[in-house]
Amino acid sequence: MTESAQTIVVRHPLVQHKLTLMRRKETPVAEFRRLLKEISMLLAYEATRDLGVTHTEIETPVQKMADAPVLDGKKLVLVGILRAGLGIVDGMLEIVPSARVGHIGMYRNHETLEPVEYFFKVPGKLHDRTVIVCDPMLATGNSAVAAIDRMKRAKPGALKFVCLLACPEGIKTFHDAHPDVPVYTAAVDERLNEKGYIIPGLGDAGDRLFGTR
Ligand code: URA
Repeated sequence: MTESAQTIVVRHPLVQHKLTLMRRKETPVAEFRRLLKEISMLLAYEATRDLGVTHTEIETPVQKMADAPVLDGKKLVLVGILRAGLGIVDGMLEIVPSARVGHIGMYRNHETLEPVEYFFKVPGKLHDRTVIVCDPMLATGNSAVAAIDRMKRAKPGALKFVCLLACPEGIKTFHDAHPDVPVYTAAVDERLNEKGYIIPGLGDAGDRLFGTR
């Protein structure tokens, strides 16, 4: 794992290998979906490193244990930016199955590249919960910034952003707007092209996840 300011790049070999498989244009939808789920489980592992634990007494088949660690505090909230964010939420739920789930519907106007919100539904009373907002591609950063703006209005205890791929432009836009919110990603690619795609990237994450192209 490499950390720079608030960007945490998860450089684990399994993550990097799976990401390469996802980038290949011949990778079929089912495999792309499975790989996104697997990488998201590994990203969740990093993004939940600082969750609080408390200790409790349990009984193993052999004897009593006085100080067995268990997660402390309110359940985590995973918020997927529709629609590709669902792929990351699915994977993270595999290892945090009791997390609460919210959705933000946001599409990118293909001419202005600006986000337009059309849906917002998240759990209530977020003030003592950690919220992890998920979207695979941190490209222009505009949707992510808008989603975090929206989430901040709900006053969560802590906020994080998890993506699969980022680029320098998206990271700058994101951190300029939200220097307090850490970004977890599997890679930071070279750049954004004139159409708003990450280069070399993996194409349109939503189309590849749902087979809509
Ligand atoms: N969204 C995608 O799905 N892919 C990109 O490269 C950029 C934004």
